[in-house]
Amino acid sequence: MDQKEAEKKIKLLRDEIRKHDRLYYEEAAPVISDREYDRLYKELVDLEAQFPNLITPDSPTQRVGGKPLKAFEQVSHLIPMLSLDNTYSEEEVENFYARIRRLLPNEKVPVVVEPKVDGVAVSLIYEKGKLRQAATRGDGNVGDEITQNIRTIRSVPERLRGAAPKLLEVRGEVYMDRKGFESLNEERKKDGLPLFANPRNAAAGSLKQLDPAIVAKRPLGVVLYGTGATEGLHIDLHSEIFPLLKKLGLPTTERWWVAESLEEILDAIHKLDGIRHKFAYQTDGAVVKVNSFAQRERLGFTAKSPRWAIAYKYAAERVETLLKDIMIQVGRTGILTPVALLEPVPVSGSTVGRATLHNEDEIKRKDIRIGDTVVIEKAGEVIPAVVAVVKSKRPRDSKPFDFAKHIHGKCPVCGGPIRRDPEFVAWRCENLHCPAQTTRRVEFLAARGALDIESVGGIVADKLVESGLVREPLDLFDLKTEHLAKLNLGTEEAPRVFGEKNAIKAINAIERARTLPLSRWLFALAIADVGKTTAMELARFHDSIGDVAHSELLHGVLDYQEKRERGEPAKEIAEQLIGAGFAKPSKSKAGKHGIVTEVGPVVAKSVLDFFASAPGKKILRRIKELGIEPKGEKVSAKKAAELPLAGKTFVLTGTLPSMTREEATGKIEALGGHVTGSVSKKTDYVLAGAEPGSKFDKAKELSVKIIDEAELRKML
Ligand code: IVH
Repeated sequence: MDQKEAEKKIKLLRDEIRKHDRLYYEEAAPVISDREYDRLYKELVDLEAQFPNLITPDSPTQRVGGKPLKAFEQVSHLIPMLSLDNTYSEEEVENFYARIRRLLPNEKVPVVVEPKVDGVAVSLIYEKGKLRQAATRGDGNVGDEITQNIRTIRSVPERLRGAAPKLLEVRGEVYMDRKGFESLNEERKKDGLPLFANPRNAAAGSLKQLDPAIVAKRPLGVVLYGTGATEGLHIDLHSEIFPLLKKLGLPTTERWWVAESLEEILDAIHKLDGIRHKFAYQTDGAVVKVNSFAQRERLGFTAKSPRWAIAYKYAAERVETLLKDIMIQVGRTGILTPVALLEPVPVSGSTVGRATLHNEDEIKRKDIRIGDTVVIEKAGEVIPAVVAVVKSKRPRDSKPFDFAKHIHGKCPVCGGPIRRDPEFVAWRCENLHCPAQTTRRVEFLAARGALDIESVGGIVADKLVESGLVREPLDLFDLKTEHLAKLNLGTEEAPRVFGEKNAIKAINAIERARTLPLSRWLFALAIADVGKTTAMELARFHDSIGDVAHSELLHGVLDYQEKRERGEPAKEIAEQLIGAGFAKPSKSKAGKHGIVTEVGPVVAKSVLDFFASAPGKKILRRIKELGIEPKGEKVSAKKAAELPLAGKTFVLTGTLPSMTREEATGKIEALGGHVTGSVSKKTDYVLAGAEPGSKFDKAKELSVKIIDEAELRKML
């Protein structure tokens, strides 16, 4: 490869890696496996090594991970959070150990072998035994401050047990256990929300939530495996960390091995592989670390990772099978998703007959063709993926897959025009009346939790749309019993009608749906980013659908966000939103007038955009014409202002005798008060329990009134 070609290839690889970084770190929705990502990364590293003059400071190889998000406060790590080199073969482990032995000649070099936890890297800082700060890795130097979210994890102690060092930064991974992950996804499915691809994404998505109340409901855990900055900690060996963490009450790895030779290292790696599936958390490899800190210091670091440790990744189960055809599915929003139809094969405990191909770019990049023998992989991933094509088994006459040509440039369901959405690398059916989209939307409108029209499920929705009785979801409300009764659910040759009895039942359910409250209607309209909980929140602050469509509160959320981004003063809007009860002051938002709003800017924009769009306007009009007027569950601002604790700010510290902090917070908020995390002159009361923390001293210093639980009860 010459300089010019290398330049081009390097640019392509960097763009590709950045795209996957964004999908992985910011959107928690990766489309390729870690292994494939590592391959891309390695290709770039190799090319840059060959052409060092092409290395730029912004190359993905020159940093550790993804960019921190905007919405959380940014904190610098006291010591950078580095990552490890990944290896996939025992030979590479052998090379690693040989290199270390060479660098430390004539010395014994014991190493520790421990699980590589497949979660989200975090740092927790304990000062004098108390949890002070938690942060994500971010780019390795600066991460998101997520203390509030970490506090919701029950296995993370607020205080360490016994004699704690003056400063202890511990590092590890936050994870979601498999059971919790599965029930979360089930719930999301019911709520019509996108599913998480695997437990790690679910954990990452949870930690990204700005509202700790949502995080608290997610079944998260943490495994700690190392230290960062410390003061007053006297240990010389990594193997001392595990019993130390345990003694301090911190969750850590249950299994680890000290090894002193290559044989012992490989033996430990195999042993771990045999038992790792029994752990509550997911593991994707073993980490091999030099045990002695003194030896580590002498080995030092390369630009990106330490020389004294390496990650060995276990192979995900892969099998070969035939790709028989590619089918294109049309989703509720018109996105066309290619799906591989496979010769069914068993992988990791289940039979796989389909695998997602994500989008056109993925098919092109891997040059996947119909008739190919493909390698499919199922690791921690729930959705199996096609990772590669076995080129040697490719039929002679096969041709590259042409997405648009395959479907003759039209939506495969309605024949309508399709357009490539540049932002999402996806083709989309532009026909809003596409039956596939309509059917999905009718199903959604009628689903449990939405309008609960039980008898209108998959096949009935299909046939209603196919017969032309329903062209858009709200047409359900124009249906007549006699039409429905005659609806043919079978085929022309073998007809099977819906029947009078079922029709009456369905019409009754549809009539009942007219009177459902606003929250149910908002959810049923399938507005992007509006799940059940958000719909309920919106309904608490609005009187009617029209009210939501032109919501001043939602506009306020967007104005606030814009002002903050531009660095303009946002005090007025912040106060208005707080006054309306739609926001609370927040300590984790940087600077003055930081607030957390009931719904975030993404939701606000999505809702306003929906009702401003032509289809959204039409829906509003139809609902009105149909005489449907869902009522909100609004608490008026006036009523809120009259609540006994309205406008009062509380800070909680220490353990209360008879209620948890959450209970106390709930009670205070129910009566109109606010609970914040840090004491300032503006704090009205500090509610102190047993063993209060530094907030107690701060309250005294600022002469803020300190009360105990009994006094709070009187107020309540
Ligand atoms: S030690 C400087 N130990 O995997 C070395 N990392 O690819 C710091 N990980 O960044 C990392 N399990 O997020 C270490 N037992 C373990 C681990 C572990 C998972 C993560 C961690 C790290 C990445 C390396």
